[in-house]
Amino acid sequence: MKKIAMVGVGYVGLVSGTGLADFGNEVICVDIDEDKIERLKKGIIPIYEPGLADLVKKNVEKGRLSFTTNFVKAIEQSEVIFLAVPTPSAPNGEVDLSYIFNAVDTIAKHLRSYKIIVTKSTVEVGTNDKIRQYLIEHGVSEDLFDVVSNPEFLREGSAVDDFMRPDRVVIGTSSPKALEVMREIYRTLYLIETPIVATDIRTAEMIKYASNAFLATKISFINEVANLCELVGADVQVVAKAMGLDGRIGKKFLHAGPGFGGSCFPKDTLALTKIAERAGMRATIVEAVVAVNNKQKKRVVEKLLKYLPDIKNKTIGILGLAFKPNTDDVRESPALTVIQEILERGGEIKAYDPEAMHEMRKHFPQITYVASTEDAVKGVDALIILTEWNEFRNLDLNYLKSLMKRPILIDARNIYSPEKVLTLGFIYDCIGRKIENKVQ
Ligand SMILES: NC(=O)c1ccc[n+]([C@@H]2O[C@H](COP(=O)([O-])OP(=O)(O)OC[C@H]3O[C@@H](n4cnc5c(N)ncnc54)[C@H](O)[C@@H]3O)[C@@H](O)[C@H]2O)c1
Repeated sequence: MKKIAMVGVGYVGLVSGTGLADFGNEVICVDIDEDKIERLKKGIIPIYEPGLADLVKKNVEKGRLSFTTNFVKAIEQSEVIFLAVPTPSAPNGEVDLSYIFNAVDTIAKHLRSYKIIVTKSTVEVGTNDKIRQYLIEHGVSEDLFDVVSNPEFLREGSAVDDFMRPDRVVIGTSSPKALEVMREIYRTLYLIETPIVATDIRTAEMIKYASNAFLATKISFINEVANLCELVGADVQVVAKAMGLDGRIGKKFLHAGPGFGGSCFPKDTLALTKIAERAGMRATIVEAVVAVNNKQKKRVVEKLLKYLPDIKNKTIGILGLAFKPNTDDVRESPALTVIQEILERGGEIKAYDPEAMHEMRKHFPQITYVASTEDAVKGVDALIILTEWNEFRNLDLNYLKSLMKRPILIDARNIYSPEKVLTLGFIYDCIGRKIENKVQ
């Protein structure tokens, strides 16, 4: 059992802090957001993540998990300090490390006994060396700390399960002592034979970018294939299925759609291109992945305009705002691009999402948010499905059609069968499948 401070109580920090507490460690979670900490102290979970509320409750009751805004107290109480603060894209696409170094600055001022500083945030290659340098330059003796890179691979929407049963744990450090402590922290996973990749710091940092860039590449690749399928009359669903049956390729991340979003893939792919640029090379493949994705997000509205060329004063219904199902996260969601493009053309929007409306309201307070699919469909000139929540997969399309002003359905997640929808009399479009609309 180790005493841990988790700095940053967001999607990663809250799940990781709670997971580490569940592994038997004593975890104090720190955040600068007072409202968030107050709510957590009252047992209110600030994000939507399946299974998280029960796990938080259990570990708080066992006395292994607590929340504070007092960073200094958390530093003093802990042997290991995890950083799970944001690392967003700076305007030039580079990684904004200001949150990391704000936290490191506080640590530098209050570090009195040996601590291990673990970076869980996704940070550009070389950041952990910079953290070491910063601490030394700010008067912290080298024997008072070690740094570790421990990138996180959880997926929002299944974050608890991913953290409790990861495919691997990556630990980058040059200190045998820190490595030993990290192994102890993750002992529970060791017992279920989770592979632990122990490596040097820069390799650990690189593993995270390479992994995310590869997954993003699969998505942009299949989206490009989907666009080609449309032109040559092939069906991307079948192409992807057959490709995925090849064990060398694998079936995951081969779903054609409106492009990837979320807080990781867009910023991490961009960051990788910048890291390469600074290292004196071009990451040509990843550059193309970013470009294809930016174009793909716009294709949804291009499809809409094909059937409804003038959307000025027309009402468009949108089902799904989160960048994927089972999360309330809308960061870089394709919905942001779609809404923006529709508004710029004078269209009006009625939107529904089971969990993400409060987040989208922060970006677009001017659109109408409704409480159900039915309300999102009533009287609209066209309907776009943008997130494949389960509740959108089996809609009574006949009934929905009767509510719509015009029966135009753009299925950006390919969740309906074109034949079935067309038989019902819809004007239908999706991504990468052959469509024979009767009315154009
Ligand atoms: N979200 C994911 O799915 C995911 C997955 C893997 C890795 N990551 C990486 O993890 C990191 C965190 O991402 P996230 O999605 O959890 O971010 P988030 O924005 O949800 O949460 C970050 C939290 O840190 C807090 N914070 C900021 N500065 C602070 C400080 N100085 N002291 C204490 N708290 C502070 C913020 O108030 C916020 O609550 C990023 O580097 C991200 O790239 C994210």
